[in-house]
Amino acid sequence: MITLPNSLRDKLKRSDQLHLLQYWDELKDSEQAGLLGQLQAIDWDLVANLAAGGVSDIKNKIDFEELEPPRAFRSDDADADWTVAEAIEAGTSAIKAGTVAVVMVAGGQGTRLGFEHPKGMYPIGPVSSRTLFQIFIDRIKATGQRFGVSIPLYLMTSDATHRETKDYFEANRFFGLPNDLVTIFKQGTMPAVDVATGRCLLASPSSLALSPDGHGGTLAALQQNGCLDDAERRGVKHLAYIQVDNPLAQLCDPAFLGHHLISKSEMTTQVVKKRHPLERVGNVVRIGDEVHIVEYSDLPDELAFQKGDDGQLRLWAGNIAVHWFELSFLKQSLLRADTLPYHRAIKKVSCLDSRGRLVEPATPNAVKFERFIFDLLPHAKHASVVESDPRDSFAPVKNAAGAETDTAELAQVAMCDLHRSWLAEAGVVVSDGVKVEISPHFALDSLELGNKVVPGKTITEDCFFG
Ligand code: UTP
Repeated sequence: MITLPNSLRDKLKRSDQLHLLQYWDELKDSEQAGLLGQLQAIDWDLVANLAAGGVSDIKNKIDFEELEPPRAFRSDDADADWTVAEAIEAGTSAIKAGTVAVVMVAGGQGTRLGFEHPKGMYPIGPVSSRTLFQIFIDRIKATGQRFGVSIPLYLMTSDATHRETKDYFEANRFFGLPNDLVTIFKQGTMPAVDVATGRCLLASPSSLALSPDGHGGTLAALQQNGCLDDAERRGVKHLAYIQVDNPLAQLCDPAFLGHHLISKSEMTTQVVKKRHPLERVGNVVRIGDEVHIVEYSDLPDELAFQKGDDGQLRLWAGNIAVHWFELSFLKQSLLRADTLPYHRAIKKVSCLDSRGRLVEPATPNAVKFERFIFDLLPHAKHASVVESDPRDSFAPVKNAAGAETDTAELAQVAMCDLHRSWLAEAGVVVSDGVKVEISPHFALDSLELGNKVVPGKTITEDCFFG
């Protein structure tokens, strides 16, 4: 029998969470130790504050009157102070100097997709069936080879995805990346609370219902796992942030990095023109001199539908969750504990009912608390926004087959369409209905492809350029 520290019992009592100990006396020692570990890892004052509806940062409270479209480097670069060619040159120099690393987040539970493994293991390649992880590793390796450098990868997982992801990478020998370049680290968790009472839920008599603390957990997890210091030791200055579920994410794109560098930005975010007013992407906006992202669910409809003088959506910029961070900015951000607020998401969470039976709720029963990495934007001394064309940068894999948007099938169509357009630029025709996929090892962009294929050819069968 393990003795529960009085200080912990007091904290639980103060925050109305004593019910979490209701099975304590019936548990085996090993179970008690597990539960004790979970309870001790939680900041109970924070949970009490969040459960009562508090947020930890005033910046989260947006005054909608003040929202302006962001100042962005638009894709036609018409009003810019520098050219795309200059941006490419600046980005290329920084990559060649070995100052770039990648942070890929893959800790989400992927509930909407309903895939039984971590989302990164989804076989997304339309012809090759290569997984999302493989495609990104291919791109990291091909970029490193092109510029003659080694690009470190910091891959974030969570309790939900860590073991399988790690096993997958180890079984496949890190897909040919030297394993000292890959750090796989776990993000933190937050307890889910009952939506009506604010009390934490139990997943079993000896464990709380915990969930990953959002992609904003990346900041703390990078620090706690020594990744920021490791990056500094390696001479890294700029971190490319991508999410695992967008196979078109422009990983280490020299032009995007160049815009970030020339504009002396601490955090730069890539956006696409929203396809319709209520598109389910965050809205990138300006408030005074700060860049913010307002979630689609928070933006009042009248603002979402508002048009500018040019007849286009006034708040046009959709977040695609692809960013550049200065390493120094991330380190400074750690000094302010309140940098990232917690957001509330009302979700279905299976848990023990009052009689101790595990129930799968039919309707959302719990509040999950998540931090979002994009809430760092307003804290940057200078943040930039760069527009990209969704056809070559955005194909999110979120929903299960059959949904209208953001399915794996639609992402595969987008990948084929992009590669078909590269081939067309190179003078190669692809017959209707034929799928084409170009590995990053074959060509990272249409220019490189143009040097490798013979114009005038017609492709009549599905083809993987490996
Ligand atoms: P989403 O917020 O779309 O969540 O994550 P998800 O887990 O992929 O899917 P649902 O909402 O459960 O259906 C966007 C990206 O952020 C990562 C995900 O792995 C994905 O790459 N993420 C999300 C984390 O790494 N940790 C988190 O706690 C949440």
